[in-house]
Amino acid sequence: MTQSLLFSPIRIGSLDLSGRMVKSATFETRATDNGFVTDELIEYYEQIARGGTPLLITGNAYFDLYSKAAPRQIGADHDDKIPGLRRLTEAVHRHGSKIVFQIYHVGRQALPRFAGRTDAVSPSPVLEPSLGVRPREITSEEIRAVVRGLADAADRGRKAGFDGVQIHAAHGYLLSAFLTPHTNRRTDAYGGSFENRMRLLLEVYRAVRERVGPDYPVILKLNGSDDLPLRRGLKPEDLVRIARRMEAEGVDGIEISAGHYESAFTFERGMWKGFFSAITTVGVGTYLPWYRRLSVRLLAPALDWGLGRIAGYREGFNLPYARRFKEALRIPVICAGGFIHREAMEEALTTGACDMVSVARALIADPFLYRHLKEGVEGPRCDFCNACFARGATWPVDCYNEAVRAEKDRMLASASG
Ligand SMILES: Cc1cc2nc3c(=O)[nH]c(=O)nc-3n(C[C@H](O)[C@H](O)[C@H](O)COP(=O)(O)O)c2cc1C
Repeated sequence: MTQSLLFSPIRIGSLDLSGRMVKSATFETRATDNGFVTDELIEYYEQIARGGTPLLITGNAYFDLYSKAAPRQIGADHDDKIPGLRRLTEAVHRHGSKIVFQIYHVGRQALPRFAGRTDAVSPSPVLEPSLGVRPREITSEEIRAVVRGLADAADRGRKAGFDGVQIHAAHGYLLSAFLTPHTNRRTDAYGGSFENRMRLLLEVYRAVRERVGPDYPVILKLNGSDDLPLRRGLKPEDLVRIARRMEAEGVDGIEISAGHYESAFTFERGMWKGFFSAITTVGVGTYLPWYRRLSVRLLAPALDWGLGRIAGYREGFNLPYARRFKEALRIPVICAGGFIHREAMEEALTTGACDMVSVARALIADPFLYRHLKEGVEGPRCDFCNACFARGATWPVDCYNEAVRAEKDRMLASASG
């Protein structure tokens, strides 16, 4: 039963991995308010590494105030972050796993007040409807600082012992917003044509590559679809074209996800049980202006129902997109989205839809999932309720489904006893 593609080795550029399941990025909310690594953050990663997960990708790290989403986010803004990050990579390496550092700029998808600033930047001043944020247009000088900042962040990661870097260009954050015509209405060299909209991502990639060197693994996270019907969102064919361009530039691997915040969070397809009530009582929604918070609370059951219709759960929900990238690229394609069962993962690999699968929520529920799948052991089982996502950026990343959490706590207590 253990001979399978899921548990067979693979390479991403120069990165040798023992198996094909990846921990997808999950915002930790476990650093200090100033972005320093804590024991609590290390403990979280160590559990997943103890479970044998071949590759772990961190939550998105910020590099300056405008790129930041929230307090307690992991930071890569100064060299003083390197010793803490090194403790993290060493802890993961002790268990034989590899770890990749995810870098990004949040763009317009964060509440400025919560992030500790007065406004947000984006390619163009297009309202972000889910949070009600109207960003200002980022200046050319600030764009240059983004390129430098991300390259510095990647290099700090390399110095801290990370096995690679992931450039987050998905989910509607700044790099993704530059690619998408709906959010990028610029008339300068960074907007308009395909080449112009790709310019920032290319500049970031080249700056990162120059800093980390030719052999250091650089992975891209990209949407397989923007899921923005009736708006000028990117379709799978546009995104495949971007990926081909990035492959030609030298990117070593690509992880496929989907959606912006205003696509109704299709990157987090789930059950949405009590989501809007939770997010406005204990999540980021508590930082919304009172009238917005009140209206979301009043409409919560209808909004939950709506998300269930638009962004309902199915296992391997990005596979149709991943398959298109796989057909067009030679570099390894990692597919995120709803994976939990060994059979579904094996099928995704054996049918050639992707080379690896990545898992976020099922590992939040069961950090030993990889080993459990290998050994055929039943662990705490995520039901994709999205209670973890509702608390994202406000509570430490963990399972907040009462029944599943109780099982997880029992499992971890017996494992440490
Ligand atoms: C609590 C939480 C935090 C997340 N934080 C990030 C992040 O920092 N960067 C990122 O690229 N994706 C983030 N994601 C999305 C996941 O990486 C993944 O793409 C998505 O959850 C789908 O995978 P899953 O169905 O296995 O959960 C987050 C997801 C959750 C649930």
